[in-house]
Amino acid sequence: WTGLDRAAPTRVWMSHGDKVASPPPGFTVTGSTQTLQVAAMADEARKIYAVQFHPEVHHSVDGERMLENFLFKVAGCTPDWTMASFVERAVAEAAEKVGDRHVVCALSGGIDSTVAAALLQRAIGDRLHCIFVDNGLLRLNEAEEVTTFLREHFHLNLTVVDARERFLSLLKGVEDPEKKRKIIGHAFIDIFQEEAEKLPHVDFLAQGTLYPDVIESVSHKGPSAVIKSHHNVGGLPETMKLALIEPLRELFKDEVRKVAAELGMPDSIVWRHPFPGPGLAIRVLGEVREERLDILRRADRIVQEELRAAGWYRKVWQGFAVLLPLRTVGVMGDGRTYENVIALRVVDSVDAMTADWSRLPPELLARISGRIISEVKGVNRVVYDISSKPPSTIEWE
Ligand code: XMP
Repeated sequence: WTGLDRAAPTRVWMSHGDKVASPPPGFTVTGSTQTLQVAAMADEARKIYAVQFHPEVHHSVDGERMLENFLFKVAGCTPDWTMASFVERAVAEAAEKVGDRHVVCALSGGIDSTVAAALLQRAIGDRLHCIFVDNGLLRLNEAEEVTTFLREHFHLNLTVVDARERFLSLLKGVEDPEKKRKIIGHAFIDIFQEEAEKLPHVDFLAQGTLYPDVIESVSHKGPSAVIKSHHNVGGLPETMKLALIEPLRELFKDEVRKVAAELGMPDSIVWRHPFPGPGLAIRVLGEVREERLDILRRADRIVQEELRAAGWYRKVWQGFAVLLPLRTVGVMGDGRTYENVIALRVVDSVDAMTADWSRLPPELLARISGRIISEVKGVNRVVYDISSKPPSTIEWE
């Protein structure tokens, strides 16, 4: 059923500790690894096929072919789904659902919420009200670049809220990552609610939630539970009484990029790296203070510039700097320094569910490190993160 030669080995990605001790009646083993007897099994008579590994990730080299075979040859599906048909359907569904009512949308400037907003604008025009909260946790000049772009290119009905001080004061003294995420999520919701109350009556909230956000925020039975609090899912208070519209809820990131291109968005938006809702707060490890954000912003700008200049920005999933909560000794001229450490995190991924560290050329790493240490005051060391997800995550907090 996999369409592969049974005798030929293939590489698959497996991350779980559970195993099938012996196949149930009717099943035969169709794949094994050195350490796992039942990596895949099938009951040909009943047409039931099971795998223990992740066929959907690109580390499983023949995974896509297995899924294709299953869908087209075994299940008899026809591959007639296209991004153009998705856009048409999503716009029609949103128009139908909203009718003549109003929708409010939180824009982050990232591709997900931008695409969600663009789809909705097509569906309902000016009855879409977008709110952009500048939480002070964005990259250098990002708030301005993003809002100018959205106004000029999409003519979105957009309100920008400057909440930089409010977020910083709420984060004062907070070190725990989950607490930071919760504080940021709640503050965001409060501000959003305050702004939404100034609008004409709205019934819907639009969000750029993607399928991986949905999966990672669901509590499954068992200890895998909630991996991290993703504030963009399910965090709204009951009192707002807004129904959710999540047009991208069933899509993976690469599909959202295709929708963005379909909608005529430029490469600078289509290929922008993902950026977490809690922003730089989860990349300044430990307490978030303005001077530490400032160090991180300047280091991060260099990472972005150098990845782009070397032609690596589009080859990787995400690349960014992290400011560590410790200092190390260095030497400058004939003096000893005792300064901050920047960690560089650059990963390859297709959907952020799994990721591996990018094998950047050493010359590029050297240039990034050299520039950060010489140009960013307060940093005397740069390290490169060589962990994969799982068991690590992409972000450090
Ligand atoms: P992790 O660190 O969980 O990240 O491997 C997976 C992907 O999600 C992004 N990320 C977030 N995105 N809100 C978001 O919108 C969040 O709270 C959040 N946390 C992580 C991360 O940058 C990566 O692309």
